[in-house]
Amino acid sequence: MPERPYTLLSCSVSIDGYIGSNASRLLLSNEADFDRVDAVRASCDAILVGATTVRRDNPRLLVRSQARRDERAARGLAASPAKVTVTRRAELDASADFFTVGEAERIVYCASSRIADARERLGPVATVVDAGATVKMQTLSADLAARGIERLMVEGGATVHTQFLTEDLVDELQLVVAPVFVGDSEAPRFVRDGSFPWNPARRAALVDVRKIGDVVLLRYALSARFEEI
Ligand SMILES: NC(=O)c1ccc[n+]([C@@H]2O[C@H](COP(=O)([O-])OP(=O)(O)OC[C@H]3O[C@@H](n4cnc5c(N)ncnc54)[C@H](OP(=O)(O)O)[C@@H]3O)[C@@H](O)[C@H]2O)c1
Repeated sequence: MPERPYTLLSCSVSIDGYIGSNASRLLLSNEADFDRVDAVRASCDAILVGATTVRRDNPRLLVRSQARRDERAARGLAASPAKVTVTRRAELDASADFFTVGEAERIVYCASSRIADARERLGPVATVVDAGATVKMQTLSADLAARGIERLMVEGGATVHTQFLTEDLVDELQLVVAPVFVGDSEAPRFVRDGSFPWNPARRAALVDVRKIGDVVLLRYALSARFEEI
């Protein structure tokens, strides 16, 4: 068994590289691209988002298409992938859609310092895992693999993206560029500061460019495990 899942990082950015707005909810996709993302979700065993994304966006993280849900059921899978999040402070609301909508398993990786709080608050709605004093995405990935997760989709936000990328844990990057500017340096960008394995001396491999209505999808192979599907 591989020591970590095949990991696909999926993100939409504005032309100026932002993934959100502090002013209002930022819509960066279009219907056709939402449908493409839905198909990618349906192909995965788990979807991971950071705790700030759970608090701020209240995502449901479900497969929307009934045909895709049925197809997963026919393969003996839950209608939607497992939902995974990570937190240090454990200040997550058990009534958030992440925890209450859909039948999929929910897994919360929490730093040891707040594990008791996390278990008390989220124990009834999720599997709460003590991820150690300092939570490393490598440890989390290995634990997911041990739980049978073979294909992981990482859906934000910036803090989570940065760790997966700087720890060289991403096999494939799907980056959508939306035709809008945010123009607010306080807003979250695609990634935060860090030392990334791809740089002017080691360029990432661009494998596909696709126009989807008014957005463009860029697909990068970031490891030798990249799967052309
Ligand atoms: N455009 C897109 O495709 C897209 C997708 C998703 C999100 N977003 C946007 O991204 C923004 C959020 O990004 P963000 O960078 O602020 O937050 P984030 O990555 O969603 O979550 C960060 C939080 O996750 C927890 N966390 C991350 N790494 C951890 C670690 N190693 N150990 C323990 N806990 C860890 C911490 O939670 P605690 O604070 O609970 O300790 C941390 O504050 C939102 O504006 C959202 O709308 C955009």
